[in-house]
Amino acid sequence: MAESRPEVAGFYDEKTGSVQYVVVDPATDRCAIIDPVWNYDEAAARTSTESIDEIAAFIAERGLTVEWVLDTHPHADHFSAGVVLGERYGAPRAIGEKVIEVQKLWKKIYNFGDDYPTDGRQWDRLFADGDTFKLGELEGRVMLSPGHTLASITYVIGDAAFVHDTLFMPDSGTARADFPGGDARTLFRSIQRILELPDATRVFVGHDYRPEGREARWESTVAEQRRRNTHLQDDPSEDEYVAMREARDDTLPLPDSMLAALQVNTRGGRLPEPEQNGRSYLKIPLNQF
Ligand SMILES: [Fe+2]
Repeated sequence: MAESRPEVAGFYDEKTGSVQYVVVDPATDRCAIIDPVWNYDEAAARTSTESIDEIAAFIAERGLTVEWVLDTHPHADHFSAGVVLGERYGAPRAIGEKVIEVQKLWKKIYNFGDDYPTDGRQWDRLFADGDTFKLGELEGRVMLSPGHTLASITYVIGDAAFVHDTLFMPDSGTARADFPGGDARTLFRSIQRILELPDATRVFVGHDYRPEGREARWESTVAEQRRRNTHLQDDPSEDEYVAMREARDDTLPLPDSMLAALQVNTRGGRLPEPEQNGRSYLKIPLNQF
């Protein structure tokens, strides 16, 4: 029988609380990188590669072949290292097909011109709900999981589900749903779908904010999420969940990097075209949020 249990290595970015993953098929040493982080210092407006270097060191040490560079959604709190790693390893990059809708939405907000394509061409593959892909001898499956963003997807690879900003660790609840294109009701339904996966499914989250200063953690199971997730354990109705989620989201500040990150991440993780002096610039809409 083919091995259906990938090895999963998580790499934690303390600054944004993001977790990037390398998912390895032990039979072939082929791997997928999920949600890689390209570090960004807002004050200096400077990118750096500490998180990329950490992943690259692991891949080199283990002699892995990178088969995919995957994003679960266009992130609002960090730049995606998708392009940097995709080009380094010559691996195809993918995201959910609804990213096109996200591009259209942010094109309006940024008032971008026609040099900002909104057809998803920045990726090699756009996944639809139910699509499958190969990772070595393992099969990956895509579940559309909108709510946090309208393009969010979950990757299920063997017994591991990469759920990004839907569920957090059980003591931390669930993700916010108030960014443009987000929707708490849709998020609730996506979460229910994830909880219908087999109980033993390993659940890997996209963020951990270390409540009460505990160590960073990112792995749980569907069974643990059902029993112990603080936003779900009392079995809220959809309306109760939406009321809780919206009230809580009203109290959360926007991520520092949102307006910078979205214009990089909706380009697949590429900086805007350099101007005639060779430098890229970001554009910030004033008084929009
Ligand atoms: Fe996110």
